[in-house]
Amino acid sequence: MIFGTIEGGPGAVSQVLAYLKTHNSRFASVKEIKESLNITRQKALDSITFLREAGYAIETKPDDGFRLISSPDIILPVEISAGLNCQRFGCRVFSYNSVGSTNHTAHDFAKAGMPEGTIVIADSQTKGRGRLGRSWYSQSGKGLYFSLILRPKLMPSQTPGISLIAGLAVIRAIYSITGLQMSMKWPNDILSRDKKLAGILVELEAELDRVDYVIVGIGVNINHTKKDFPRHINRIATSLKIETGKSFTRAALLQQTLVHFEKIYDNFCNHGLKYLAKELLECSAVYKKKVSLSLGKREISGTVVGFDDNGGLLIKSKNKLQAYSAGEITMHQTFAQFLEKTGSKRKSRS
Ligand code: BTN
Repeated sequence: MIFGTIEGGPGAVSQVLAYLKTHNSRFASVKEIKESLNITRQKALDSITFLREAGYAIETKPDDGFRLISSPDIILPVEISAGLNCQRFGCRVFSYNSVGSTNHTAHDFAKAGMPEGTIVIADSQTKGRGRLGRSWYSQSGKGLYFSLILRPKLMPSQTPGISLIAGLAVIRAIYSITGLQMSMKWPNDILSRDKKLAGILVELEAELDRVDYVIVGIGVNINHTKKDFPRHINRIATSLKIETGKSFTRAALLQQTLVHFEKIYDNFCNHGLKYLAKELLECSAVYKKKVSLSLGKREISGTVVGFDDNGGLLIKSKNKLQAYSAGEITMHQTFAQFLEKTGSKRKSRS
């Protein structure tokens, strides 16, 4: 079931919502709202009725007007586009109760010609996809599951960088909302204290020398408790709620991700990774670490010394320095890390 769509910019409901959000310390009269937004009195009142029915708590005083008290944690297009400070990202929003995979639906929209910045978001996914044929656990109401259509004027060889810059955008967005600093395990795992909090799946439709479109699928564990995760991922996954003890609204994190992503993406398309390299190294979980990279049946061991211009991982092994654009990283544990994980240090002290 589709929750709703927004095409070609926010409508009156989104504008009224954005207005109430920015003026929520006081009451705003209908006259003020209609004149500030240049809409009719009836449109302003209908918008408030729609918002209340969608779960927004809006207080009314006959002489003073309306004041927003609280917003529900919903992924309706009105909530996503209200006050969204982007030029292109979020220009169209398709919001679903449930889909197989938002990446899959986004491919259909991209093939049908939807522009760069179009978003497909779902409350839950029945066939959420991860990298390397894995699945992505997508429980209703708990996480952020969305895909973004990009149409970069890049060569296919330059697109691995998109996975890295999407990761940076998620890291910046999480920091701005929670104050938590995440790290990134190349190419796309967002980690908090070594546990996976978010993942990014970049899929490409391209010819040899031209990218047709790119789908960037992002999944973030937000309000999951430990019990919400199935047993096989409980050990390796975490969420913002587990990390902070607090709940967060999905739309707020989505808006922040889009704002940061649009800026970083424009920078990347114009200059490559040049201006982003320092930040990428600072938040990398693998930089200067000893790792093994598995490439199908091949395994390369060495030390990560950085990224190349296209976002490939530079590994120094023996006397060879080489960039890799695919593969699965395993980090070698130091003895101290092993002791910390197994709790042996604490036991041997007591
Ligand atoms: C990974 O870590 O392997 C990537 C996970 C990507 C999950 C997101 S959720 C939204 C989008 N739709 C999907 O089917 N996958 C991505």
